[in-house]
Amino acid sequence: MSESGGNWRRRLNAIWDDSWFYSEQLEKRLIEQALREARPYAHGILLDVGCGRKPYAALFRDRVRQHLGLDYPPTVDQHMSSGYAAPEVDVYAAGEGLPIRTGAVDTVLCTQVLEHTPNPARVMAEMACALRGGGCLILTAPQEWGLHQEPHDYYRYTRYGLEHLAREAGLRVEYIRPRGGIWAVLGQRWSAYLYDNYVRPFRRRGIRWAFLLSACFILPACALTQLLARGLDRLQFRPQNTLGYILVARKPAEDS
Ligand SMILES: C[S@@+](CC[C@H](N)C(=O)[O-])C[C@H]1O[C@@H](n2cnc3c(N)ncnc32)[C@H](O)[C@@H]1O
Repeated sequence: MSESGGNWRRRLNAIWDDSWFYSEQLEKRLIEQALREARPYAHGILLDVGCGRKPYAALFRDRVRQHLGLDYPPTVDQHMSSGYAAPEVDVYAAGEGLPIRTGAVDTVLCTQVLEHTPNPARVMAEMACALRGGGCLILTAPQEWGLHQEPHDYYRYTRYGLEHLAREAGLRVEYIRPRGGIWAVLGQRWSAYLYDNYVRPFRRRGIRWAFLLSACFILPACALTQLLARGLDRLQFRPQNTLGYILVARKPAEDS
């Protein structure tokens, strides 16, 4: 593809990524909002475990000196095969065995990764070990979501499960907050269901006319469902059912 063709494609993808027609927009925005609130806890060298495309690099750019992306070859290839942007990985390794010196980084970011590892306690311990005393882990994980990236999809997390994992790894929990309530769960899951069942199959099989026809009906329904869910969630916030959590936890300084 020519350079101008590539630029156009990137621009269109950016518009799509921010639009409510995108069937997972509500989840995306709730994660971004949670990470924005956690920005003050980020500084110095940030290690992004399971970074994929480093989708939150821009959010932390003015907070950190370096944003180091780490991902795991067997799963990152699968994750990227469905997308249009290339992964932005600096180090290839598993979260269960980080090739990072003890206390070498100031911040660890880990978004929507912990459900994909069969050994989350080990990954949590490795991330805690990589942190300098006083440094923070900023982590998001799902409580409600369909199977994805199969067969590498092992767990869902409650707030108590995440707190337990962080404490066992020697971290002190600063806060843990839900990302959305029952309405967000219902709206987001319905929107993703519509797209995954009535648009994605045609796109995957390359049946262009069926893809375009179904998209004309389904994408507006996705937008409407998600906007309605966001509104209802603001009116009546019931977070016993939530899309997931953000956890911010600190490694105690050596002298504390
Ligand atoms: C749902 S994607 C999330 C990617 C990115 N963090 C984001 O928020 O868009 C899950 C990521 O976790 C990575 N992953 C899965 N198992 C892993 C492991 N054991 N160690 C490190 N990364 C892993 C996958 O390769 C994939 O990039």
